Amino acid sequence: MRLISGPQGGRVVLDGTPVLLLCSNNYLGLADHPAVTEAAAEAALRWGVGAGASRLVSGTMTVHRRLEERLAAFKGTESAVLFGSGYLANVGVLQALASVGAGRTTIYSDALNHASIIDGCRLARAETVVYEHNDVEHLAWTMARRDPDPSAPKIVVTDSVFSMDGDVAPLVELLELCRRTGARLVVDEAHATGCTGPGGRGAVAEAGLEGEVDVVVGTLGKALGSYGAFAAASHEVVELLTNAARPLIFSTAPPPPAIAAALAALELLEAEPERVTALQAGADALRDELHREGFDVAGSTTQIVPLIVGDAALAMRICELAIEDGVFAQAIRPPTVPDGTSRLRLAVMASHTKDELREAARVLGRAALQAGFRPGSGGPVAAATPSSRGRVRAA
Ligand SMILES: Cc1ncc(COP(=O)(O)O)c(C=O)c1O
Repeated sequence: MRLISGPQGGRVVLDGTPVLLLCSNNYLGLADHPAVTEAAAEAALRWGVGAGASRLVSGTMTVHRRLEERLAAFKGTESAVLFGSGYLANVGVLQALASVGAGRTTIYSDALNHASIIDGCRLARAETVVYEHNDVEHLAWTMARRDPDPSAPKIVVTDSVFSMDGDVAPLVELLELCRRTGARLVVDEAHATGCTGPGGRGAVAEAGLEGEVDVVVGTLGKALGSYGAFAAASHEVVELLTNAARPLIFSTAPPPPAIAAALAALELLEAEPERVTALQAGADALRDELHREGFDVAGSTTQIVPLIVGDAALAMRICELAIEDGVFAQAIRPPTVPDGTSRLRLAVMASHTKDELREAARVLGRAALQAGFRPGSGGPVAAATPSSRGRVRAA
């Protein structure tokens, strides 16, 4: 862990050195926005800093309910329910949905899904089948081969914006397949909420599927600048989650200041959608500048831009050299990403200026060459494989 002084802004002091922060998920810069921090402070004074117990034990607070109503409206669903974090939401949603199948459920999971989805499949104790990244044809073939009975309970689960590749799942095709096969579709919008789609409503909204997907998971800890998460779904599914999702039932509810902060952030996002436009423009600009430096960034269509170098030690070396030159872009290695695809995962923030992003691309180009890596000659770019064909573009 490296030490950052002050909030997660576009520029930070890292281990005593000023750097451009290019790897935080505080995409819209809302974590320390005055309206958000004031809402948290007021909530602490009004409701206290802790929720005291699980909401099923000691009752729910008005602030939690209010945020759930706002999130459901934002995501275009009948209802929503809060979880302690995105990790807990994915674990709880998969375990609860699979519990309906009484041991007969099969979960189909994209090969590049987040670790919390992988762990959710484990806790669900359901048979889990991994399909090739963004490959609906492979998924359909796998389903037909393993589970031809349309009445057998099935769940398909995918990130919408992939956290390490910045590409987008083919949601329209996935939903069509789910409808045909009777599978439930769970979409994790952790990196899409606040970042893509109309007004930042996410990739599901961008694909025109609001209210169609069985469960949409989102986190409050990334673009919404706080901590906690939610699942947005029909009344019926939210009722099921409330009564069956173990991380919701057996864990203290998220703290009122975090919930009030997320509520304030959501209000800001709705009132000022230009933040989302600025984020997307920044991501386009960064990709252009990196392309000019020779990097292959064609796989990303969002604010997450991976520079895939392959070797883990090489990725670390480039990261260290870039920090020395004023840019912090964390190196990501296995097991977070598949073997041979170590990378620098760049994450743009809405507050980054075009000049800052141009300079960052130059620094990264120099660092790569100095470390002995020629941009453009990198290892396999998962997001740019032919299997990502037909994906829904995010911006
Ligand atoms: C795709 C995805 N889902 C879920 C999570 C977990 O969210 P949280 O940080 O709120 O636990 C992450 C976190 O990085 C993520 O990338």
